[in-house]
Amino acid sequence: MTAEDGQLEARLAEGEVFEPSDSFVSGANVTDPDVYEEFEENWPECWEAAAELLDWETDYDQVLDDSNPPFFEWFTDGELNASANCLDRHLEDRGDEVAIEWVGEPVDEANRTYTYEQLHREVNEFAAALRAQGVEEDDVVTMYMPMIPELPVAMLACARIGAPHSVVFAGFSADALATRMNAADSEYLVTCDGYYRRGDPLDHLDKANEGLAGVEGETTTVVVDRLGPNDDDFGHDLGDDQLDYDTLVEEHAGADVDPVTRDAEDMLFLMYTSGTTGKPKGVKHTTGGYLSWVSWTSQAVLDIKPEDTYFCSADIGWITGHSYIVYGPLALGTTTMMYEGTPDHPEQDRLWEIVDEYDATQLYTAPTAIRAFMKWGTEFPDRHDLSSLRLLGTVGEPINPRAWKWYYTHIGDEECPVVDTWWQTETGGMMITTLPGLKDMKPGAAGPPLPGVDVRIVDTMGEEVEPGQAGYLTVNKPWPGMLRTLYRNDERFINEYWAEYSDTDSDDPDDWVYFPEDGAKIDEDGYITVLGRVDDVINVSGHRLGTMEIESAIVGVEGVAEAAVVGGNHDIKGEAVYAYVITEDGYEGDDDLRERIIAGVEDAIGPIARPEQVVFTPDLPKTRSGKIMRRLLENIADGEEIGNTSTLRNPEIVDDIQKQVGN
Ligand code: WTA
Repeated sequence: MTAEDGQLEARLAEGEVFEPSDSFVSGANVTDPDVYEEFEENWPECWEAAAELLDWETDYDQVLDDSNPPFFEWFTDGELNASANCLDRHLEDRGDEVAIEWVGEPVDEANRTYTYEQLHREVNEFAAALRAQGVEEDDVVTMYMPMIPELPVAMLACARIGAPHSVVFAGFSADALATRMNAADSEYLVTCDGYYRRGDPLDHLDKANEGLAGVEGETTTVVVDRLGPNDDDFGHDLGDDQLDYDTLVEEHAGADVDPVTRDAEDMLFLMYTSGTTGKPKGVKHTTGGYLSWVSWTSQAVLDIKPEDTYFCSADIGWITGHSYIVYGPLALGTTTMMYEGTPDHPEQDRLWEIVDEYDATQLYTAPTAIRAFMKWGTEFPDRHDLSSLRLLGTVGEPINPRAWKWYYTHIGDEECPVVDTWWQTETGGMMITTLPGLKDMKPGAAGPPLPGVDVRIVDTMGEEVEPGQAGYLTVNKPWPGMLRTLYRNDERFINEYWAEYSDTDSDDPDDWVYFPEDGAKIDEDGYITVLGRVDDVINVSGHRLGTMEIESAIVGVEGVAEAAVVGGNHDIKGEAVYAYVITEDGYEGDDDLRERIIAGVEDAIGPIARPEQVVFTPDLPKTRSGKIMRRLLENIADGEEIGNTSTLRNPEIVDDIQKQVGN
């Protein structure tokens, strides 16, 4: 960082404020400033506004049933189908409009456009195929696929027949796939032969097969042929219980599958995410509440209109892609883009080339990507006409004011509002962010909570802290998009999210407070700055990883006695994985062990969890009661001043570790 940059960051941190441009405000979806007050006064009925964006087969009786907290139910006894809402209802007026604009890796010119009519057709055919393979309502179907159109097709086909999907990010390892399939007793998998990364083919089926070997029950697998009949297809032969996607769809050509009637509270999907313990959590989302929530936020925050070409650069394997590539945009009948590749291939202007070529109207991406764009320089966006953009968004991690300003200036030309959206896998959709046509923006602060969302920043006793002071983020009222439970584990659901600040013996919904495990502060205007996780979850490039999961992978490596993993600051990634490792007697902390540790982490989780540094140490800093001082290890990783170490059992170790990290 240069001195000039440092000054800019400091000035922005002091609270520079940006007004949305007139050009944006004049056409914005939400412009009535009374919306905040109206929602507050009319809570929970205010959420009918979200439900009204959907087509219901049967009207709901009650907006919110809060008789059994924290098992809140929304739009009770209402009936609908998510696939019908995302497809069928658009056919009459918008059947020929583009639903999905898929941009493949440039390598084989494989771009594809699906109109609503075409997407509807293929979803019906694949839904028929899944049924023919024995998939019944409420069977969990796992998808282990990269960014190819068959992924949303498969998701919507499942939604059509009432089979919840569980999408596993393609970058996760074989082990991670097996763990998730076993946890959900999932007997069906949809995957693909491979895909391209920076022009090179990657073998995906090999990894899927390895994962399947670790799945307990019998399984049926459908394999999409992404690579085609060329030299790059790795010569896979499908096994007995493996079927070719194209063949299946052809066999069911012209099939019509009536969307099954789902109760509002029926599960739409499961998504496994990292938590405090080593075992991923199966977050359960439902049909009515979730779909209402993502539709409403897509409209109010992303300002999506049917005629837009909306571009979210996330991966569908994470919640952002579920909510804001697939369900929200398609429910609103817009054109949603999908990009298979990376932003730096073939050149570092790839995203801008796509925005230019397709006249994208919104771009929703992660701070980590923006920091990389900044580093690459303005010459790349400057090559292209980005004037089609109307709104910019970020998600996944805190955005530093300097990156915010760069995005606002060089991508948005100071005309596009930037929405910094705070939310989680568990919240289903956005919770804290500015409404772009109504609110000023403060770089570094996500903004006020959305209307109808009751967020408070509290101390450890649950008392609200003063503006400017750091505290814990809590949500005091339920919302339609919230997770309903952790799959088959109500007890863990209560312990993880509610126990901290709720009176768990109470039947009074007001005694129940949701704790997302984030630290935050609030300013005098009610703008919230999210400071990051306060549990053992770290955020690497906007990807959520559990330190315990990484630690358990490392201690599984032969020669490792003990390990502690923390997140250290990283210029581009936000956080990076630092692993501190004690070797077993007789093992040397050398390059060989380091490589085996890295391989162990990649095998257990995937390359995204790869440690930035593996530091061998004879001991870990521990309190007298034997607890590892993670905070101190974080300070070391960040090259920060180490405070008082006198409470440590082994203060002498700190110096030693510091020297090795070399910060
Ligand atoms: C972090 C991603 C600051 C936060 C949608 C949260 C953010 C975790 C922001 C959830 C933001 C997400 N500012 N931090 N705008 N958005 N986070 O489940 O720590 O993958 O708890 O959901 O990301 O990550 P998840």
